[in-house]
Amino acid sequence: MSETRSDPVRLSRRGFVRFAAASAASGVLAACEQDTLVPEGPDLARGGIPGGGGGGASSRNPLYMPNTVSPSSLTLTAAPTDLDLGGGRISRVWAYNSSFPGPTLLANRGDVISGLSLQNRLSQESITHWHGMIVPQASDGHPMHAIGPGASYPYPTFSINQRATLNWYHPHPHMLAGEQVAMGLAGAFIVRDSEEAALGLPSGAYEVPLIIRDASFDKAGNMQYKPRSGGFEGNTPLVNGTRDPYLNVNRAVYRLRLLNGSNARIYRLALSDGGPFTLIGNDGGLLATAISVTEITLSPAERADLLVDLSGLASGATLMLRDLDAGWDLLEFRGTGQGSAGGITVSSLSSITPLVAPVVTREFSFDGMSKINGREYALDRIDFTVPLGQTERWIFTTRGNAPHPVHVHAAYFQVQRRTGGRGQIFPWERGWKDTVLLEDGETVEVWIRFDQHPGVFLLHCHKLEHEDMGMMSNFLVTAPAT
Ligand code: C2O
Ligand code: CU
Ligand code: CU
Repeated sequence: MSETRSDPVRLSRRGFVRFAAASAASGVLAACEQDTLVPEGPDLARGGIPGGGGGGASSRNPLYMPNTVSPSSLTLTAAPTDLDLGGGRISRVWAYNSSFPGPTLLANRGDVISGLSLQNRLSQESITHWHGMIVPQASDGHPMHAIGPGASYPYPTFSINQRATLNWYHPHPHMLAGEQVAMGLAGAFIVRDSEEAALGLPSGAYEVPLIIRDASFDKAGNMQYKPRSGGFEGNTPLVNGTRDPYLNVNRAVYRLRLLNGSNARIYRLALSDGGPFTLIGNDGGLLATAISVTEITLSPAERADLLVDLSGLASGATLMLRDLDAGWDLLEFRGTGQGSAGGITVSSLSSITPLVAPVVTREFSFDGMSKINGREYALDRIDFTVPLGQTERWIFTTRGNAPHPVHVHAAYFQVQRRTGGRGQIFPWERGWKDTVLLEDGETVEVWIRFDQHPGVFLLHCHKLEHEDMGMMSNFLVTAPAT
């Protein structure tokens, strides 16, 4: 394989050291700590009070923040890279532009994205999908567009015509998505719009994208992928690619933009003091109204947009973001004592037009670990056809082997009801969604309408091992007859 590497380059900023294999030949920027999203603050590595649930404060590592870049004229290079994920040990990961997670893409509604391309420097085929972006088929990163090692894929120009939200990007080659995501290939893709801007939500250092995932390491400390048909689960949590991270925070309200970037693991997120989050958005952007919750269930590919009031966090005090299911301490907030911003009041956020009067009902049974409606995925088979502009009722059921986080490309949906199992729609499932969790015994009904692009798109389980084994379906969106 054409893996050209130079010696690790040592980069240091604000005490944060990260190693990256920078390839001069590719012109790839080495990963480095970027400071725009990290508030200034004293180093509290020794002064911190171990927080509720968070021991070992002094051994935690600064949270990594990828650079923020425009997707226009961007070349993303997927390649093996050596990085310090915290604690000084170097790990071999697969990364976009030597950054793990990859650079955070940022664009505005109305932008025209041109000159975006993928360079594949892996030893296997790949293609990058922009999860949640409503783009034409040839720019969607469908597995039919996978490219071989050494090749590059130029994404045809597309325009951004959708609400502000936190989306993300990750590989989508058939049967290889699980390995490539587990090895590190993923990044955030933030879309902004004027509706969101008018709310004056916390921004700059006070808006923090957090990609939460699990990982597994071999004896040498390199990331490894150990697929299991029930779904890969690693034994080490990573937030923004950092082991045991902490973030210095001022006395202020923070906007935490969470993405579950795991292959299969589901998180039950809560704060160590049991205090509330203000939930303001999810996969599809802002909810109609803010709602206070004390825990959130996030399955692979789901997002949650949260306001957390840290204005009461004194200098040296800590608060932990935890996963109640695994009992993991995910991210420690360390108070700097600086600032005194009062709380932000948000209630009404956005107007969400409900879909009405579906004219077609389709049922999708997620069977075993590899089938939808009894069939495994075939790259060149179209399983059903959907006309543009038609509101449809899609009903997801399972015959065992759940959880199945069900994801649809090319349109967002509205969750109408869940029967069986947990038997309710949760606050984070309101508004618009592109992924919904189907647990054993559950039937989930969503309404959906494809409004933008004709073409071949995907419905699949976002437990990546299920996806790779074939729990995926092609459908064709057709333009209305004229
Ligand atoms: Cu996030 Cu078809 O995937
Ligand atoms: Cu997607
Ligand atoms: Cu599944």
